[in-house]
Amino acid sequence: MKIRLLRVAAVCALLATMGIVQAAGNIEAGKKKAASCNTCHGEDGQGINPTPPLAGLTEEYFTRQMNAYKTGKRENAMMEAFARPLSDKDLADMAAYYAALPKPCGDGGAPAPTTTGTGEVIGDIDAGKRKAAKGGASSCNGCHGLHGRGDPLNPRIAGLATGYFIHEMNDYKTGAREHLMMQVVVQDLNEKDMADLAAYFASLR
Ligand code: HEC
Ligand code: HEC
Repeated sequence: MKIRLLRVAAVCALLATMGIVQAAGNIEAGKKKAASCNTCHGEDGQGINPTPPLAGLTEEYFTRQMNAYKTGKRENAMMEAFARPLSDKDLADMAAYYAALPKPCGDGGAPAPTTTGTGEVIGDIDAGKRKAAKGGASSCNGCHGLHGRGDPLNPRIAGLATGYFIHEMNDYKTGAREHLMMQVVVQDLNEKDMADLAAYFASLR
């Protein structure tokens, strides 16, 4: 009787472990697989201007972006080439690895640049701050949170490089990057708005 109970407990424990590993991916395996990614995305996925950081992205967001590159819902020839050979298991492992890393540009991190390579200032930070709050619940801050820190449903946008930020906004506008909500949001923004918003969010940590 005792032995049977022990056996049941062991099987339950084994199943539970398998369940967790399957759902969440394997962080150690993900770290190995992501080594080549980090040559562009920075040490521990902290980002290298203008290549976006991957550290701290939720598993859901990471996996959805990688699949969007694969299918062309998010157009980028280079990332499509990197994403295509990866299996669901590879993606789950990498997603677990990046999600476990601390988010970049946290308190004390270096502020992202708000100037171009030639030193030209992009956008007006104060104007961007006002625009980010305009519209209350349906504003940028309404979804991305005060200070752009994000939450499990909306990605962190604080500290994104201005070049990347403006590029993504334009991609939502043309449909090169598909996402119903963001595609609606950007329709009302002109180039100046995007530059101001980019400068403001890049200035946040
Ligand atoms: C040669 C440089 C390079 C390499 C190597 C690279 N990436 Fe990227 N990655 C980029 C650039 C540039 C972008 C921005 C593309 C865009 O505008 O959609 C990007 C975007 C991404 C994004 C979207 C980030 C976001 O915030 O939406 C993810 C996720 C990503 N890469 C994962 C990976 C993974 C995983 C690997 C390794 C298998 C990898 N990348 C390898 C350059 C690279
Ligand atoms: C209704 C909620 C909502 C609002 C309002 C909103 N966003 Fe977003 N935003 C999202 C979601 C969700 C995503 C992820 C979309 C995807 O998967 O492509 C996103 C993605 C982004 C990205 C791409 C992030 C990355 O790492 O590639 C940027 C930049 C961005 N939003 C900026 C803004 C700005 C600026 C505003 C205000 C003008 C705004 N958003 C308003 C929900 C919102």
